[in-house]
Amino acid sequence: MVHKAQYIKSKETPISSILQGGYNHPLSREWQQERQLTKNMFIFPLFISDDPNEETDIPSLPNMKRFGVNSVIPYVSKLVDKGLRAVILFGVPLKPGVKDEVGTAADDPNGPVIQTIKNFRKNFPDLFIMCDVCLCEYTSHGHCGILNEDGSLKREPSVQRIAAVAVNYAKAGAHSVAPSDMMDGRIRDIKLGLINSGLENKCLVMAYSAKFSGNLYGPFRDAAGSSPSFGDRKSYQLPPGGSGLARRALIRDLDEGADAVIIKPSTFFLDIINDASKLCKDYPICAYHVSGEYAMLHAAAEKGIVDLKGIAFEAHQGFLRAGARLIISYFTPEFLDWLEI
Ligand code: PBG
Ligand code: ZN
Repeated sequence: MVHKAQYIKSKETPISSILQGGYNHPLSREWQQERQLTKNMFIFPLFISDDPNEETDIPSLPNMKRFGVNSVIPYVSKLVDKGLRAVILFGVPLKPGVKDEVGTAADDPNGPVIQTIKNFRKNFPDLFIMCDVCLCEYTSHGHCGILNEDGSLKREPSVQRIAAVAVNYAKAGAHSVAPSDMMDGRIRDIKLGLINSGLENKCLVMAYSAKFSGNLYGPFRDAAGSSPSFGDRKSYQLPPGGSGLARRALIRDLDEGADAVIIKPSTFFLDIINDASKLCKDYPICAYHVSGEYAMLHAAAEKGIVDLKGIAFEAHQGFLRAGARLIISYFTPEFLDWLEI
C-alpha cells in the first residue's frame, strides 16, 4: 500500500505520526492486541510422585510443589474452581529400586501417572488431562530412551517403548499424550499404537517437536529427579543456534500424524514459535514456558529488577504475538487469579 502523507503544518510532522490517541484508555490499549490471554489457553504442569500424601516444596521452582496421588486432588480441585481447564502430568518415582534400563515404571498401572489419570477423570469430569511421555524420570541412567552398551541411544526399541507408554496412558483415560523424548519417529509409532488400540479418536497427540537443549530445564530435573547420570541430551534435543532443524522437526512430526505441536523453551525461541505458526498454521501451537524461564522471572522479581505480574504478562503475551495458541506454564495458578475469562 502506498501512503500519501498528510502534514500537520510544516512538512516535518505527518498526521499519521500521531499514534497516542489510539491507546490512551485501558480498553483501547487492549484493542491494540491481536489476541488476548484467556484461561482456556493454559496447561498446568503437575509433578506427581509415588508417595501418595506427598506435598513437598520444590526449592528451585517457587510456589510449585510435588504432590502424591491423594494430596494432588484437593489442590487441583481449588484450581478447577478458579477455571483451570488443562493439566500435564509428570510422574516422579521416589521409591528406591524403581528405576531400570528401560523405564518399566513409566506405565506401571499402580504408578502415579496412571492412578492420577483415573482419579482426575472421576473427580474432574471437565478437566483436559495430558500426560508428558518420556522415560528419563524412570530410567536408571536418566536418559530419555533406551541405550546401547556405549551409552548412545537405540532408536527402535526406544520408540517402541515410548509408544507403548503413550498407549497405556491413553487406555487409562488421558485426553492427550505429549512425547517429550525427542526420539526420531516416535509420533508415527504412537499414532499407530493408538489406531491399533482403537483409541485414535479419543487421544490428541501433542508433539514436543521443537525442543532445544540448553540451560533452562534445571529446576524441572530437580523436581522430577530426571537429570542424566552421565553426558547430556545434545544427541536428541535440538541445537539452539539454528532454526532450520527445528522447522524440519516440526514438518516431520506433522507428517507423522501429530495433532498439535510444542515449542520449548519459549522466551528465547519466539522466532521458532512464529515459524511454526506459519508452517503449522492449521494446527494448535503450544509454547512451553519452561522451569528455568519461570525460575529466572521469580529471581529477577525477588531482586527488584521486574514486577512479577507485569513480566509474566509480557512473557505470555509475547507467545501469543509470536503465534502460539496454547501455553504450558507454571504461572497458570496466578493467571487464573489475574484473568477474568
Ligand atoms: C522430560 C521433560 C523435560 C521437560 C519436559 N519434559 C526435561 C528434560 O528434557 O530434561 C522440561 C520442562 C521444564 O523445564 O519445565 N524429557
Ligand atoms: Zn526425557
